[in-house]
Amino acid sequence: MLVSPSVLSCDFGNIERDTLMLHHSSADWLHIDVMDGVFVPNISFGFPVLQAIRKHTNKTLDVHLMIANPDAYLEDFKKAGADILTVHYEACTHLHRTISRIQELGMKAGVALNPHTPIEVLSEIAPLLDLVLIMSVNPGFGGQKFIAAANVKVARLKALRTQLNAHFLIEVDGGVNLETGAQLADAGADALVAGSFVFGAADPVATIAALKSL
Ligand code: DX5
Ligand code: ZN
Repeated sequence: MLVSPSVLSCDFGNIERDTLMLHHSSADWLHIDVMDGVFVPNISFGFPVLQAIRKHTNKTLDVHLMIANPDAYLEDFKKAGADILTVHYEACTHLHRTISRIQELGMKAGVALNPHTPIEVLSEIAPLLDLVLIMSVNPGFGGQKFIAAANVKVARLKALRTQLNAHFLIEVDGGVNLETGAQLADAGADALVAGSFVFGAADPVATIAALKSL
């Protein structure tokens, strides 16, 4: 299992310390949640914070854009250090153009689906994608309850991937802990995001290792 701890739940007063903790842990990626207060009802952080994280690790930065107009900032995210750039299906009118541009800039391209969005909307573009991010909470906040319908969605997405001969990774975000993570592993998830479960644990490094072993 690929594990992508969400920096949203870190201590921002100690961002160097927490980034180095993730760097030295068994985490595969660092998940970076960018929120604009328009697409989602919360504001998180932008480029300076991403650059600060980039300074302290060479691990893959898995950037999840919860913003209304991602097209305007794709190049800026590349410059700030993003390796994977995931946009929301619900925020992109010209998704094919957006995905192509992300890949032209040298990043992996992901598409996130809100809990109400059916996977079938990706059937035309799926073969072009590097990653699909299934939201198992409504985006905007850490620490929310897992929406169990995500399990079936992941299993159906895995079947669709085979049917379309596509190769994207399936990542799941929201309410992930060892119990929901095990369900998602059974359903076929390739990568798990975990914020509050990792940073709220007495031993975040051991918690990341436990998620990796699912
Ligand atoms: C939610 C964000 C998540 C969040 C997950 O909008 O996209 O990445 O950090 O937090 P937990 O793991 O606490 O649900
Ligand atoms: Zn996220």
